[in-house]
Amino acid sequence: MTDRSATHPALRPGSLGPLDLGNRLLVAPMTRVSARPDGVPTEEMADYYSEFAEGGFGLVVTEGIYPDAAYSQGYLNQPGLVTEEHVAGWRAITDRVHAAGGRIVAQLMHAGALSQGNPHRPGTIAPSAVAPLGEMMPPYGGSGPFATPRAATPEDLREVVEGFAAATRNAATAGFDGVEVHGANGYLLDQFITEYTNLRTDEYGGSTAERVRFVAEVVERVAAEAPDGFAVGVRVSQTKVNDFVYRWSGGSEDVIVIAQSLAKAGATYLHVASEGRAWFDTALLADGLTVTGLAGEVSGLPVIANGGMHDPDQAARVLDGHADFLSIGHAALANPDLPRRLAAGRELAAFDPAMLRPDVTLATSNRWRQAG
Ligand SMILES: Cc1cc2nc3c(=O)[nH]c(=O)nc-3n(C[C@H](O)[C@H](O)[C@H](O)COP(=O)(O)O)c2cc1C
Repeated sequence: MTDRSATHPALRPGSLGPLDLGNRLLVAPMTRVSARPDGVPTEEMADYYSEFAEGGFGLVVTEGIYPDAAYSQGYLNQPGLVTEEHVAGWRAITDRVHAAGGRIVAQLMHAGALSQGNPHRPGTIAPSAVAPLGEMMPPYGGSGPFATPRAATPEDLREVVEGFAAATRNAATAGFDGVEVHGANGYLLDQFITEYTNLRTDEYGGSTAERVRFVAEVVERVAAEAPDGFAVGVRVSQTKVNDFVYRWSGGSEDVIVIAQSLAKAGATYLHVASEGRAWFDTALLADGLTVTGLAGEVSGLPVIANGGMHDPDQAARVLDGHADFLSIGHAALANPDLPRRLAAGRELAAFDPAMLRPDVTLATSNRWRQAG
């Protein structure tokens, strides 16, 4: 804990692709299952998101938002970006964040085989009919084993791509500064990248270049819909909500193929998630390189690192050649004013798991805050 002053490198301005941000500190995407049952965002969510902007975060990445009314929804009370009411609900939120001097990007998420609550269609789709590891997550409203998905047909895949395209148009209308395609943490797009969930024998399965192809096609379509100055991020990860130990078997070679494919498809930034583990655990490659550093070097894109980035010493080390921006999850919940605290050299409040138990809703966290 040495560098806590206003000169901390995380407090320097920087460009995340087309977005000029006041500092390097971002709020990581966090599902809060607090929208109306029809996916319309609420005023409570506007209060939640604007507090991070008031607290000085350079950018807020929203929770994963479902992009279509087919198979994408992962959780009951997850917000959507499909209907006019969704767009109006999000507009109220982006206005509040902008009024507080912040920027906000919509994370677009297709849950694939990891859906545990979707009122639109029965069943789940995935690259292949492989039963997911692990079980549904009770704090997000599910319990018991996941359903075994159906292998997505070419028509299903076209519907997925069109959903991401339509949601991107809706995000622009709703006043977002960009979108982030969720290709991480075990959800549909990551199911394509991951060897054991993608057994396809068509052009979307096989080598790493083939397994990332569908993700790149989604990104290409999203980039084609993006207005000028709109960010098109992609989040990738090795670990997953239902598997904290998976690593890309090709190591550095996989990082190069994935990062270059996504850059070629039109991504303007890469966000490397670290679900269930700290950055130093998931980012180190066998040859002394880091996933975040190498991805930035070979793609030419700005890279966001994640996983325990609230620690000032570690944050400074990572910003010294391994990443350009840092996203913060748990510690942002405990410290919505984390950038202001860092600038003032003030201690951070510790994250208390009780904030997200028995469920991850905003109501539960608000009750926890009132009690404390
Ligand atoms: C309650 C909660 C919900 C989350 N939901 C999402 C999500 O919707 N999309 C996503 O990409 N990651 C999600 N994550 C993962 C975080 O973005 C982040 O990668 C993780 O918390 C590690 O960062 P940290 O060490 O700063 O907390 C979630 C994490 C938490 C705690």
